[in-house]
Amino acid sequence: MSEIIQKLIEDFDSSFYFYDLDGFEAHLKSIKAELHPDIKIWYATKANPLSKILSILNENGFGADVASLGELHQAKTAGVKNLISTGPAKSPKYLKTLMENNVSTIIIESIQQLQDLNQAAGNLGRRQDVLIRLQLDWSSSSKSVLGGSGITPFGLHPLDWEKENFTQYTHLNIIGLHCFQWGNILDAAELKKIWDQTISECVNFAHKKNINLKVLDLGGGLGVSYKDDKKLPFSSAHEILLEMKEKYSLQEIWLELGRFSIAEYGHYFTKVIDVKNVRGKKIVVTEGGINHLARPALVSESFPISAMRTSVDTTYSVHGPLCTALDYLGDHELPLDLKPGEWLHFKKTGAYGFTESMPYFLCHGLCGEAYLHHGKVVVARSPETSESWMK
Ligand SMILES: Cc1ncc(COP(=O)(O)O)c(C=O)c1O
Repeated sequence: MSEIIQKLIEDFDSSFYFYDLDGFEAHLKSIKAELHPDIKIWYATKANPLSKILSILNENGFGADVASLGELHQAKTAGVKNLISTGPAKSPKYLKTLMENNVSTIIIESIQQLQDLNQAAGNLGRRQDVLIRLQLDWSSSSKSVLGGSGITPFGLHPLDWEKENFTQYTHLNIIGLHCFQWGNILDAAELKKIWDQTISECVNFAHKKNINLKVLDLGGGLGVSYKDDKKLPFSSAHEILLEMKEKYSLQEIWLELGRFSIAEYGHYFTKVIDVKNVRGKKIVVTEGGINHLARPALVSESFPISAMRTSVDTTYSVHGPLCTALDYLGDHELPLDLKPGEWLHFKKTGAYGFTESMPYFLCHGLCGEAYLHHGKVVVARSPETSESWMK
């Protein structure tokens, strides 16, 4: 792979993402090989909506969760056949568009969505399958962009839903529940505790509201370690789900996996612009930072970074090019004699990378995207300067 990367560095001379989609496809196939027919996995498009990723998922029999009109369009264009939709902002127009595009299950996150979708389904003369999204009281301290223990706009609390008479929504078919409010869980025992507690509350709610729990969607959250090479084996998570299915007599369990699907297969490369000592601290300033890769600023966890050579290392504080202290990419062990013009490699950046970044601030360039599939390197996007998008 290092020859491919060297060639891309020479061709682009600017920051870029590289995705190993052969590795990604092998990962999908290994998941597929052990999946029980009642455990269904959807891809969370928000993790990385690159069209080639979506088409590979589709070819391997996976559907996708879309959470915006843009993701819907992207998934449809990439040929994804099976779609579901989550997300707190669904206008009447968007709900109608989801139905017109045959999104099979729509996750309902508010009473407004329930009313608007029922109306849209009535107007189209169809019944729409839906899941009701629950937001539980949550005590986990694990850090998540979903808000962890805070009150969030994702779904409603069981007590908020309880007042609602679901039978009045005659154009909707409530096939189950959705509950997801944790993030990046690496430990199988912790996952089991979270799922057990969640499922037990969902089952109670379904019983109270007379919902036939055909589907229980537990969202995402399977972890990827950014600190070390520790991995959560898919087989452990799968085994827990089968145990839960048995314990609670569930029919189908769904997951919407983002990070666990694609994170490991993404690599981001950027150039060192400056190296300096500031009040006793070694600082590296890079061409790309949170303008290409915002996650370190969002969850205060950096990606693993290495230089492109072996050396004697020392600790540097790595910063991107934006004029804000937020553009901090973590403290990392890098060569003592690191020089401007050298390149840095950020690993495990396949999920929540390119489209989660904040590229417009300060009018820096957009980074490139290239991938390897069936042994061939394809440039999906060459790096662009700000002239391409500034008005
Ligand atoms: C509704 C929903 N499903 C799935 C995911 C994917 O989560 P992960 O990347 O942890 O698998 C997210 C992430 O925010 C989400 O909001």
